[in-house]
Amino acid sequence: MPDDSNDLVPSVWPASAARDADGTLEIAGVSATDLAQTYGTPLLVIDEDEVRSRARAFRIAFDAAAAEQGTTAQVYYAGKAFLCTTVARWVVDEGLRVDVCTGGELEVALAAGVAPAAIGFHGNNKSVAELERAVEVGVGSIIIDSAIEIERLAAIVARTHATQRVFVRVISGVHAETHSFLATAHEDQKFGFPLADAEAAVARIRDIPGLDFAGLHCHIGSQIFGVAGFRESASRVLELHAALLEGGPVPQLNLGGGFGIAYTRVDTPEPIETLAGEIVAAVAEGCAARGIEVPALAFEPGRAIVGTAGVTLYEVGTTKDVELGSGAVRRYISVDGGMSDNARPALYGAQYSARLASRAGLGAPQLSRVVGKHCESGDIVVDHEYLPADLVPGDLLAVPSTGAYCAPLASNYNHVPRPPVVAVRDGRTQVIVRGENIADVLARDAGIVPASATRSER
Ligand code: LLP
Repeated sequence: MPDDSNDLVPSVWPASAARDADGTLEIAGVSATDLAQTYGTPLLVIDEDEVRSRARAFRIAFDAAAAEQGTTAQVYYAGKAFLCTTVARWVVDEGLRVDVCTGGELEVALAAGVAPAAIGFHGNNKSVAELERAVEVGVGSIIIDSAIEIERLAAIVARTHATQRVFVRVISGVHAETHSFLATAHEDQKFGFPLADAEAAVARIRDIPGLDFAGLHCHIGSQIFGVAGFRESASRVLELHAALLEGGPVPQLNLGGGFGIAYTRVDTPEPIETLAGEIVAAVAEGCAARGIEVPALAFEPGRAIVGTAGVTLYEVGTTKDVELGSGAVRRYISVDGGMSDNARPALYGAQYSARLASRAGLGAPQLSRVVGKHCESGDIVVDHEYLPADLVPGDLLAVPSTGAYCAPLASNYNHVPRPPVVAVRDGRTQVIVRGENIADVLARDAGIVPASATRSER
């Protein structure tokens, strides 16, 4: 039990989060109460400076780590973590490239004005139409995921006389889980080529005049702490990389994303400067051991760029105390959103934290569970948290670390409109994704006759 259930643990909040003189939470100088009054709740608030500074920190850290080993490193922002045109522009402005994994994400990046050459296109089932579009606009790299995709691209470049730079995604056999990693001989999953099959795939690509083989790609998982998984994976992939050098150039190596962030006070990610230094040094060691040059490197962080920049505001609706036995009580605090705006607790058992936002609480810390408004008992926002005992309906609650994989996974479950996303910076606000209203939610129901329709039209 914490001494203070109003504290803001720095690792899970944007650097600008603070309580003002009245105890109200503010982010980038904008008060949570003003945000809720202006935009309603639930509301996803994104701290622009936090996204920018994290993007910059990644770029600087990998540039420095690569320079130390005599190479270069590119950083792609993995758009799946949270993508809209505004955020794409911020990260590009900070020197990042953009990784997309569907035709839809590709269109967002293009609409944002991201240079096609700075886009990497992923996906295990890119359609012919998606591949055609990517080649037509000139994306910088397509990360090939299967033998069928090689042939699809071969046909497209033959037809269009284009030259397309491509990577081959391999499975290193290292699969990182949160807080640890497992190394298995055979990966039973959908992405990429097993290492044993990749040489033949690269040989085939090298035979196709319109395909320019750029190197190997490997992503070992997400929300990874430490460097052991990256180190092990890099070592296995370098073995193949070295073998491929015998058949031609292999200019680059992309080690994917997956850098973990803090969701609660128990998570303690290491600074990116440390991780970048150790991972790039491990690659350099692996190259030295094989007598090969250190290739140009690339990385694809998503969560680590936007995760802690996001804070979700909810309004408390109802509360209920449940006796747990031996005098202990759990308070259920229902908020006006839930699994429709944050599916991660239900999908992955993800843990979050929460704080009273509209004021500082005065009551003793009370064991609480924050739940949503959906018709499911698994609709949990924060499984366990100590919140002030005087919290009441109408109070605002803030859930930090919701910048990554919350809005992108949002749904209209139970016909709940998806919330807006508002960026904050220097005391100013900007809607970057408009919220839905109930008309938006009902718009796809083909059986609803507009109230304005005449009797005969009905
Ligand atoms: N590169 C590739 C090829 C990926 O598949 C991913 C994530 C990334 C980069 C970015 O990983 P990050 O740095 O964000 O960990 N919805 C799940 C996460 C799915 C990640 C999918 N791929 C979650 O909410 O935890």
